[in-house]
Amino acid sequence: MEIRPTTEMDFDVFVDTVHATFGRFPEIPIEGGGLWWSALEMDRCLLALTSDGRPVGTAATHSFELTLPGETLVPAPGLTAVGVLPSHRRQGVLSAMMRHQLAQSRASGEFLSVLLASEATIYGRFGYGPATYTQQLTVQRHRAALAVPRARGTADAQATGPDTGSVEVLRRAECGEILEEVYDRYRRGQPGALSRPHRWWALRAGQPPISPAPRYIAVHRDADGVPDGYASYSIGEAATLTVDETITTDDAVFTALARFVLEHDLVSKVVFKHVPPRHPLRWQLADFRAGEVSGDMDWLWVRLLDVPRALTARGWFTDGELVLDVEDPFLGERGRYLLTVRDGKADCVPTDREPDLSLDVSDLGSVYLGGTAPSALVRAGHIRAHRPDAATLADALFRADRPPHCLHWF
Ligand SMILES: CC(C)(COP(=O)(O)OP(=O)(O)OC[C@H]1O[C@@H](n2cnc3c(N)ncnc32)[C@H](O)[C@@H]1OP(=O)(O)O)[C@@H](O)C(=O)NCCC(=O)NCCS
Repeated sequence: MEIRPTTEMDFDVFVDTVHATFGRFPEIPIEGGGLWWSALEMDRCLLALTSDGRPVGTAATHSFELTLPGETLVPAPGLTAVGVLPSHRRQGVLSAMMRHQLAQSRASGEFLSVLLASEATIYGRFGYGPATYTQQLTVQRHRAALAVPRARGTADAQATGPDTGSVEVLRRAECGEILEEVYDRYRRGQPGALSRPHRWWALRAGQPPISPAPRYIAVHRDADGVPDGYASYSIGEAATLTVDETITTDDAVFTALARFVLEHDLVSKVVFKHVPPRHPLRWQLADFRAGEVSGDMDWLWVRLLDVPRALTARGWFTDGELVLDVEDPFLGERGRYLLTVRDGKADCVPTDREPDLSLDVSDLGSVYLGGTAPSALVRAGHIRAHRPDAATLADALFRADRPPHCLHWF
């Protein structure tokens, strides 16, 4: 088995092989790559070939930036286009490609890797754990009244005054750089968010609103006319208004955009396709049960490649000390680390002290962004706590400044 980067010469072979692994025929001529394919980085596309040169597996990596708790931005290779021909499955092709990918990432100084999983059973063995989650929230329009005043903020509406911002509806094609700029500001403050490289927007490679698919965009502007949020939406069958994404880090702007779509005439229901679990919008509805949650699932999976670097990179919000015994069966590694958090920063050094928690590197990936409580993994039997208060302390330590969320599809 040979694993090597794709070249210009065989990029069409790469794309063709990915299609075959998913059992799909290409919908567009392979020549030219198609929109999504054109966003791939050639030197980060891998082909697995049999000894007689037959392509049987693919994997590729996007060079993203991931926002960690504490508004820290770090390089994050985003694994994608993973596939093995049905005729060659369960013979270790993916395992070989994973080994290659992870070694390559480490060699280029990356200390974590991320992906979206087609099946939740595939990547745990390779050290990835689900770290952000997403839900779909459906609201029947006749029950959609909000129990918050039309004011900026809610509890402190008096102090901050009314929302003097405005909402304008643009067509996707009229938005120019607005979406890219608003998204970029949003993702820098949102733990779990990924950068959307400029070339994605330029190539229109991705899902709406990046793609040229027709969409209306409700753009929110602040009192000075500067765009500070948007909701991308379309109205389809059964008068359903579907919001692809609502992008803002300002809760009041989110509420203004939600109110805008919920008050849309000639609409029977509004589907918010991607909201973080426990989003405040449900508590803003006058009728709590008007918000129906579905599609509750994992989204971004995280794999740590260098535990001390990863733990010292993120921001921390509670002081404390924990000894973590971390096992990495796929890479055949094990490390015991003393994690000490003081004044928002962590120190993480090897130790031979007795551990407080023993955990797999995939579980550390799950708790890393603050979206999974370590205590839940202790109760699930994944993490072993060696003293009674270790799980509670770990919950307090790993908490993030905002619940992590990722809605970028790749
Ligand atoms: C998922 C896929 C890439 C796995 O490739 P593969 O070459 O068969 O994987 P490997 O042979 O290296 O498997 C390694 C281990 O993972 C397990 N595994 C692989 N795919 C699995 C799956 N879909 N569900 C559960 N376990 C799986 C294997 O049983 C094996 O377990 P073992 O180590 O206990 O023997 C391949 O099945 C595929 O192409 N699926 C369709 C496309 C797809 O879903 N791609 C992933 C996109 S995110």
